[in-house]
Amino acid sequence: MEFRELLDKRRSVRKYSDHGVSREVVDSLIDATLTAPSARNTRSTKLMVVESAEKIEKMSQMRDYGSSFMKGAPLAIVVMGEREKSDVWRANCAISATILQLACVDKGLVSCWVQADGRPRLKSEPQGEQVDEYLRGLLSIPEECSVLCIIAIGYSDFEPAPLPSFEREDRVVWEE
Ligand SMILES: Cc1cc2nc3c(=O)[nH]c(=O)nc-3n(C[C@H](O)[C@H](O)[C@H](O)COP(=O)(O)O)c2cc1C
Repeated sequence: MEFRELLDKRRSVRKYSDHGVSREVVDSLIDATLTAPSARNTRSTKLMVVESAEKIEKMSQMRDYGSSFMKGAPLAIVVMGEREKSDVWRANCAISATILQLACVDKGLVSCWVQADGRPRLKSEPQGEQVDEYLRGLLSIPEECSVLCIIAIGYSDFEPAPLPSFEREDRVVWEE
């Protein structure tokens, strides 16, 4: 697939078909994601692959806004960072997650980012239980790691609409 086509096809898709993702395809997604650059080559990002429908359903309850769609996904990859390995573990995780989403497009999959870091479970209680704490009770997240996001992954029965325009004039400044 041409690079531009890959970029254009990456849309956040929150509805998935029943089709599971084979181990071979999961392995290729992981291999692609691990190529991500990291600050000082610290490679602070770790991935946790979750295929259990029961666990993904529980993960979908991690927030009361913007995560419930995850329960229909056959695959969820938790993107987490080793805090002590890099002071910019979040940036490293974000690059990894982006490459993972592009790798999904390359394999004919769709995906959506679900933010965990800095998010409370209940929108109305920003100081209440945090998503990271909830996930630790559910998954075997290593103590030294924190979760940036989860990428929900699956196949789609429909072709998402093309990306809207990018407000090029507003968002790009050419320094004279
Ligand atoms: C840092 C980040 C956090 C996001 N968090 C969520 C989320 O928690 N739930 C969700 O449904 N989508 C989430 N998204 C997906 C965005 O809503 C989506 O990328 C945006 O609306 C643009 O749509 P597109 O991805 O189809 O181009 C997130 C995306 C990014 C980059």
